[in-house]
Order: sequence, then structure tokens, then C-alpha cells
Amino acid sequence: MFVDSHCHLNFPDYADALDQVRADMAQAQVERALCISTTLEEFPQVHALATRFDNFWATVGVHPDNEDVREPTLADLVERAALPRVVGIGETGLDYYRLGERSVADMHWQRERFRVHIQAGLDTQLPLVIHTRQASDDTIGILRESGQGRSRGVFHCFTESQAVARAALDLGFYISFSGILTFKNAADLREVAKFVPLDRCLIETDSPYLAPMPHRGKTNSPAYVALVGRFLAELKGVEPEVLGRVTTTNFEQLFAIPPNTASVN
Ligand code: NI
Repeated sequence: MFVDSHCHLNFPDYADALDQVRADMAQAQVERALCISTTLEEFPQVHALATRFDNFWATVGVHPDNEDVREPTLADLVERAALPRVVGIGETGLDYYRLGERSVADMHWQRERFRVHIQAGLDTQLPLVIHTRQASDDTIGILRESGQGRSRGVFHCFTESQAVARAALDLGFYISFSGILTFKNAADLREVAKFVPLDRCLIETDSPYLAPMPHRGKTNSPAYVALVGRFLAELKGVEPEVLGRVTTTNFEQLFAIPPNTASVN
């Protein structure tokens, strides 16, 4: 019924727990998951998940928070994007939250890296998985300018304002909600979630981070996307089955993944 559109199952948290993770997914009617890359170094493990299990897919990209890692060239991304079961570019974007002593001007390297990912999305015609934190103006501005109106993708783990949601929707992007939606202090985000049309919503866990209530603070797991889905369904005033069906169709359309015929029976 549900799809986890963003998780990091290659992280050490799951080293000996994949069987359990998958059993929990089945139990919670979470049929599929997209495994997201954050460095080129880890990409082979992320990709291996997608080739080993037929309900997992993978992306290729280098997260804006990752420094002291291999800087991706356009060719690095395009080459890996051509591998089977790679369906997106990311996660990529901008993050000015951890500036430390630096100024926004000092983060030129992050904007450059973002532009390389945007170009890879255009060259491969794959959607972008966008991370943005305290950098929404630049994120939208660079997408608008470098994406030439042709970039597609999703703003993942959305925590921005309604105005940013509006700008992302106007660019043709989807918006993905995580367990943050269930947090007590997320009233503003719940209003944004009511505003975003259902046919532009995705749901995700961002596992191992951000477990939804009542598991907040524990290791997250793709099975818990069912909690996010049920919560969003209630906000939207629709049945969980409807929420599951629409967000699944959105996922299939964005990432060009065929409908899950196995689950129809
Ligand atoms: Ni992530």
C-alpha cells in the first residue's frame, strides 16, 4: 500500500537487520523503498541493495553536507545513473545550517556541486532528490536557472514554508513528507502538508533518522512510512488506502517505476 521514497538502508544501523527490516515492511504493507546515495564511496553498497532485492531502487549523488569525500564530476554521476535500477540523482541541494565560521559566500563549492547534479539530471532525464536546509532561496534560484525549466524531482523531507512549497510546485516538483509531520512542534508543517495537493505528495522515512511518533528518537525503518502515510491521510481527510494509492502512483510516475503488479493479487 505504501512506498518509502527515501531511506539509507546501507548505513551501519542495518548491518545485521535487513531481513527484519524487510519483514517489518511486509507486515506494515510497505511494498517498496528507494535507497538514497550520499557519497560516491558508498554508492556501490546502495546500488547493491537495489540489484539484490526487486522492491528496492537506488539513486546516485553526493549530499551537500558531505565534505572530505570524493567530489562528483558530471561523468561520475551520468555513468552510475546508467546502471540498472538507478532511478534518480541525489540526494543533492544546499544546506547552510552547518556554516560554522563560514559565510554563505564560502559555500560556493556546495552550489557548484548542486549544479553538477542538476546537469546530470538533465543529461540522464532522471529526477532530482533535493535536500534543502536554511537555503531555500538559493535552492529554488539555482534550480530555476540551471534546470532550464526541464528539471524534475522531489523536495525530500520537507520542512520549509508554504511559500517555498509553492515555488517548488511551480517548478513542477513533488514534495515529500517524513515523520517530522508527526512531531508535536510541527504545526506549521502540518499546515503546509494540507496545502500541497495530494497528487504532488510523496512520503518517506529518511531512515535511520527522524522516526515518526511514537518511535521518535529511535532508529527509523521503512515500515514506519505507514505511520507517516496514515498521519498524512488524516490531515488530508482521506482514507489511508487512498493516500497510499495516490502517493504510490506519484512515486511511480516521478521515478518511472512500473506499477507493482505483484501486490494486485
Ligand atoms: Ni536522506
